[in-house]
Amino acid sequence: MTEQPSETDPQTAIDSVAGNRDDRVYEYSAGDEQEGIPFVGAGPGNPRLLTVAGRELLADADLVVHAGSLVNSELLDEYCADAETVSSIGKDLEELIPLMRDVYEAGDTVVRLHSGDPAIYGAALEQMDALEHEGVPTYIVPGVTSAFAASATMRTQLTLNEVANHVAFTRPQGKTLDEDEDHISEFVGMGDVTTCIYLGTHAVSETMDRLLEDGHDPETPVAAIYHASWPDEDVIEGTIATIGEKLEDAGYRASAMVVIGDAVGGEDYERSFLYGDWANRGSSDETQEADD
Ligand SMILES: C[S@@+](CC[C@H](N)C(=O)[O-])C[C@H]1O[C@@H](n2cnc3c(N)ncnc32)[C@H](O)[C@@H]1O
Repeated sequence: MTEQPSETDPQTAIDSVAGNRDDRVYEYSAGDEQEGIPFVGAGPGNPRLLTVAGRELLADADLVVHAGSLVNSELLDEYCADAETVSSIGKDLEELIPLMRDVYEAGDTVVRLHSGDPAIYGAALEQMDALEHEGVPTYIVPGVTSAFAASATMRTQLTLNEVANHVAFTRPQGKTLDEDEDHISEFVGMGDVTTCIYLGTHAVSETMDRLLEDGHDPETPVAAIYHASWPDEDVIEGTIATIGEKLEDAGYRASAMVVIGDAVGGEDYERSFLYGDWANRGSSDETQEADD
């Protein structure tokens, strides 16, 4: 079948969204089955970390457009052996949108499979907007983001009472982010933030050098979890002063989650309020939401 090009350029589709809150926001919840092409989070790698909803959708799919090597091929083999699978790597929106649209409009079932969760550094929304602009409904099925797989591997929490009150999902400066948009040093400077760096494996030494120049404690714990939840997962632990060299020695230039902060060690925390005095204070909304 010869694909027809998109009727509009993707930026026009993005601009046309402005100010229009979609009625489906109030009709459906995450996890509900909906009409259209689902943008499914594949999770961090281990096929067992795919959601039940994601697995069911993949089982029904005729075409799965996936995020190439970021998605474990075992997951594709196990859960969508009957579908045609196409990697999105190296394809631009002008190619991807007509591909998904035409297969969907021909009456076949299409799944767009992103790594981790589509909401984190996934560029899912621009594909969804472009498809919607061409009359193809879309929706998101969440997945386990790699920072969560990394914290599970490290047997810790990203928030930890009296140690880390906040979490930052971030990326370092580079082609996409200008120097003044890189906030890693500010997050680390706050002291009680666990900073999870995506898309920064190739630049760990430079990132750590900047932190040292900015005067941060060289002993601050840092862990780099390469391929969290994959069979070749590797955990490299160090500090702001040492992690760059350790990662270079290991030879990893991609696919690691770099976590900075005291929560990495999972120690020196205080027991939470939830299972302390607060546990006996009835069930006010405040108590319910106090912790998890
Ligand atoms: C394009 S982003 C996609 C992130 C994805 N949407 C998520 O929620 O994890 C790719 C980056 O995510 C991180 N990443 C993805 N999968 C990973 C894994 N299994 N282990 C460690 N880091 C991973 C790496 O930092 C990688 O450079």
